[in-house]
Amino acid sequence: MFTPSSLSITDQVLAVLACDSPRHQQVMESLVRHLHAFVRDVELTEAEWLTAITFLTRTGQICTDKRQEFILLSDTLGVSMLVDDINHDKPAGALESSVLGPYYWEGAPEVPLGAAIAEGVAGEPTHYSGRVTTLDGAPLAGATIKVWSGDGEGNYDMQLLTEMRARAVLRTDADGRYHFWSIKPSYYPVPTDGPVGAMLRDQNRHPNRPGHIHFIVSADGYQPVVTQIFPSDGPYLDSDVVFGVKSSLIADFVPHPVGARAPDGRVLDTPFHTVSYDLVLVPSDALAVAA
Ligand SMILES: [Fe+2]
Repeated sequence: MFTPSSLSITDQVLAVLACDSPRHQQVMESLVRHLHAFVRDVELTEAEWLTAITFLTRTGQICTDKRQEFILLSDTLGVSMLVDDINHDKPAGALESSVLGPYYWEGAPEVPLGAAIAEGVAGEPTHYSGRVTTLDGAPLAGATIKVWSGDGEGNYDMQLLTEMRARAVLRTDADGRYHFWSIKPSYYPVPTDGPVGAMLRDQNRHPNRPGHIHFIVSADGYQPVVTQIFPSDGPYLDSDVVFGVKSSLIADFVPHPVGARAPDGRVLDTPFHTVSYDLVLVPSDALAVAA
């Protein structure tokens, strides 16, 4: 004869978990505990439960190989940056990380230092420069820098085009220096035509990210860093919809008038900006900093 368990629903679920590794078991037990605690805390109604199921179903259905609504959901609920924080705690002075975002495109061309990577792309020309160094300031020669950004109107190449624009791979010189021309990136909204957009509207939140240029910096023997640099004069720095801004990642983009001489000696017939930002890496074997 069937005898109802005297255990709570939560304990019944925990009792049957038998995952194939201690870590998997730990993660699933915690997930069940917190999920059940959330449902009890808000006393979830059946209608709310069905709303959640419908929302998650639609989130999956809108995903394609070019659109990842679940990552957008993670980003806009702050989970992506929380995972980033936990996994990339850095000592003072080291380059901090931020989210990869949905617009990374593997296979960007390697270009020589000084190259202009955004010819014909809408936006104000900007000269980017700096050094890749150790925490002690020693140069890291031959470090790899991958960069990409949207244009000066907030659009990424992969949203509008089939060819790459405003993205490249560079290598630092013997002094650890890098420099290239691109554009000053604009703020832009995350996609709002799906369930996450509806969620943002329900929460009375704007959908915008402040302007930023993405970097992935790596060097042999050092921890690679995925990050973004934000112009200090743009909107939404204090309300990034994906919470990706860290104060150390904000940089001054210095404006220059027509006819001014750029750091590489060029004289432009348009206004332009210059930004200098050093990228400081931590050795691969460095211990994580206690949170
Ligand atoms: Fe981005």
